[in-house]
Amino acid sequence: MTTIQVMLGDRSHPIRIQPGSLGDLGEAISKEFDQPRVVVITTPKIGEMHYGAVATGLARLHLEHSRIDVPERDRAKTLRVAGRVYDELLELGADRQTVLVGLGGGATGDLTGFIASTFLRGISLVQVPTSLLAQVDASVGGKNAVNHARGKNLIGTFYQPRLVWIDPDVLATLPLRERRCGMAEVVKVAAIWDAAFFEWLEENVKSAMALDRDALTHAITRACAIKAEVVGLDEREAGLRSLLNFGHTVGHAIESVADYRKVRHGEGVSMGMVFAARLSERLGLAPGGTAERIRSLLIRIGLPTEPPDWDKQRKAYLDALAVDKKVRDEKVRFVVLRSLGKAEVTPLTPEEILAEGL
Ligand SMILES: NC(=O)c1ccc[n+]([C@@H]2O[C@H](COP(=O)([O-])OP(=O)(O)OC[C@H]3O[C@@H](n4cnc5c(N)ncnc54)[C@H](O)[C@@H]3O)[C@@H](O)[C@H]2O)c1
Ligand SMILES: [Zn+2]
Repeated sequence: MTTIQVMLGDRSHPIRIQPGSLGDLGEAISKEFDQPRVVVITTPKIGEMHYGAVATGLARLHLEHSRIDVPERDRAKTLRVAGRVYDELLELGADRQTVLVGLGGGATGDLTGFIASTFLRGISLVQVPTSLLAQVDASVGGKNAVNHARGKNLIGTFYQPRLVWIDPDVLATLPLRERRCGMAEVVKVAAIWDAAFFEWLEENVKSAMALDRDALTHAITRACAIKAEVVGLDEREAGLRSLLNFGHTVGHAIESVADYRKVRHGEGVSMGMVFAARLSERLGLAPGGTAERIRSLLIRIGLPTEPPDWDKQRKAYLDALAVDKKVRDEKVRFVVLRSLGKAEVTPLTPEEILAEGL
């Protein structure tokens, strides 16, 4: 069992990583909490595959437990679904002893975190991420949110879990496209923070993608440790935490121009990272070859690296890049690389971003 401590004063908590550990969650919960009543929030699909192991472990420790199902993907991240879950929690007699467990991808985790932070002004939260993206990114850092018609993640809080429980073995059931998307975020933290880890990925990413237990566990552990370190230094995104947006400014623009359904988040980030690395080179900030190393690593993972119809949709991209659509020359806080493993923020207008990056 590997443990990473997220250092946040009285909100400090461990991330525990161990292949095959899903059935041991009950034991961990009974150690961590006094007479807990456990409610697991999951989806029908993930529940069918992985709730059994969790429930058996909870039953072994004689812990009172129940399950609430929510919809798949971002269909779960609405106030309506949250409202329905509050109803069910009250129906179940949930109280301040109740421990809410989010078992699923980042969408399930975000909804569960939001509910845990608001129900009875906050009850205990345990994250059990089951997608690679959720294991290395969404479950670490305490951000949660539901979506609003005006945009993604607009309604949410910062609320730290008491425990993050990661079983890399559950990724065996994750579709390949989702595994690739999660690996994009692994590449991201290596690129902004840890040159040695980036080199390790260049050597080992194929094994990790092929679900080699040791390689995959190492990739998850290193990525979590980096995110935990960054969050420990800047929980509320006053500065450093924004480096985690590397590849995301252009990535989000690509996602929104292409329509969220066609381009997955990790794919947008993949294209966005190559773009941002090229831009860093062109501004004379990063040494030549930096973007090419990132691109070739992403290609080996099976991710797209060149955005579709870039030139044709120039205006749409400019709009998508602008924070305030009316102020075209307003600067965006753009994350650039100084080298592999070292990033910084530089203010650029959408025009400058497109001009330099193309
Ligand atoms: N809070 C944060 O800091 C943070 C960070 C990044 C992303 N997010 C959020 O996370 C969400 C994206 O997360 P995601 O990519 O995990 O998406 P997701 O939760 O929508 O899951 C993607 C798909 O994978 C399936 N899945 C998950 N685990 C599985 C498994 N073990 N086996 C088979 N199928 C499995 C899900 O059922 C779903 O169909 C977005 O809502 C995003 O806003 C939050
Ligand atoms: Zn991301």
